Amino acid sequence: MSEPGKPARRVRYRGTHPRRFADKYKEHAPEHYPGDVAKVLASGKTPAGTHRPIMLREVLEILAPQPGEIAVDATLGYGGHARELLSAVQPGGRLIALDVDPLELTKTEARLRTLGAPKEALLVHRTNYAGLASLLAREAPGGAHSILADLGVSSMQLDDPARGFTFKSNGPLDLRMNPARGAPAHVLLAKIGEEDLARLFHEGADEPLAAHLAHAVVEARVRQPIDTTTGLARAIRAALPPRTTDPDTVVRRVFQALRIAVNDEFSALETFLRHLHDCLAPGGRVAILAFHSGEDRRVKAAFKAGLHAGLYTAVADDPLRPSPEELRQNPRASAAKLRWARKAS
Ligand SMILES: C[S@@+](CC[C@H](N)C(=O)[O-])C[C@H]1O[C@@H](n2cnc3c(N)ncnc32)[C@H](O)[C@@H]1O
Repeated sequence: MSEPGKPARRVRYRGTHPRRFADKYKEHAPEHYPGDVAKVLASGKTPAGTHRPIMLREVLEILAPQPGEIAVDATLGYGGHARELLSAVQPGGRLIALDVDPLELTKTEARLRTLGAPKEALLVHRTNYAGLASLLAREAPGGAHSILADLGVSSMQLDDPARGFTFKSNGPLDLRMNPARGAPAHVLLAKIGEEDLARLFHEGADEPLAAHLAHAVVEARVRQPIDTTTGLARAIRAALPPRTTDPDTVVRRVFQALRIAVNDEFSALETFLRHLHDCLAPGGRVAILAFHSGEDRRVKAAFKAGLHAGLYTAVADDPLRPSPEELRQNPRASAAKLRWARKAS
């Protein structure tokens, strides 16, 4: 018999523990297993099926959300930042939350709806943040008092092999944040030309071996289609010079570059940054967490240009970094760079 509150567990696997991610019932409903979640957190890891909000304290200090205000979380994910923003703008305020991922969005909305804020205080949209300005024109024409964008991929997306974001376990080479839109990564990889692939590796990950790896992938796909995560990892490892010190880092960069291309991440970010100032109410604050140089370069340039143009009254001179304590507790925070900007009152 299942415990009250826990989903009934169907035994569909052999042995004492499920092996396939799809069978791992705890990972699909971590909120029902607080004891296991606490144990994993104490060991410095992220419990599968969850995401730990990065630089939460710093983000809240920058955004300083107040009761009655409108806050935007442009990248809802697991809702770690969102739950704090939602509660800080109560009573009387609203959180408008966006994400492109239809699979995680519903689960996160359900979790946030248990927190006790009035129904109308939370608005969740499956929308690309590139479209934030038109969403706000309808929902909050005066603009938002605080906006957060925590760029990139969530731990839930990384953890699920069926979504193809990780090379640590086998799965289809997909990498789409919204699996209902666009083409999976293996389709792109099957037809892209060598020069374009080298450019993709360079632009999306500053990959020093971009040209060499592009050549190797184009040769390997003639012998056998590259349509799985481990297949691509194998092709990349086989192409590396013999004394490469950290092959996993190169594979990770290749996956990052492909993910950026498949989800058109740079053009979404550029559109978002172009319209950001119009999305803010007078005196509004924005915080952006970036995880690699391609993202941070764009944020830095947009904030600097906005300051010179008088659109912002203040912007971060240098990015904030996670504290040593946070890095000890959550190694996934290691690449984070947090930048902020403020609009004139
Ligand atoms: C790093 S996670 C956010 C985690 C979240 N702050 C939390 O505390 O749980 C990034 C999220 O942004 C979403 N995302 C990525 N690109 C997006 C875009 N262009 N528009 C909207 N959401 C996007 C991803 O699907 C993912 O859920």
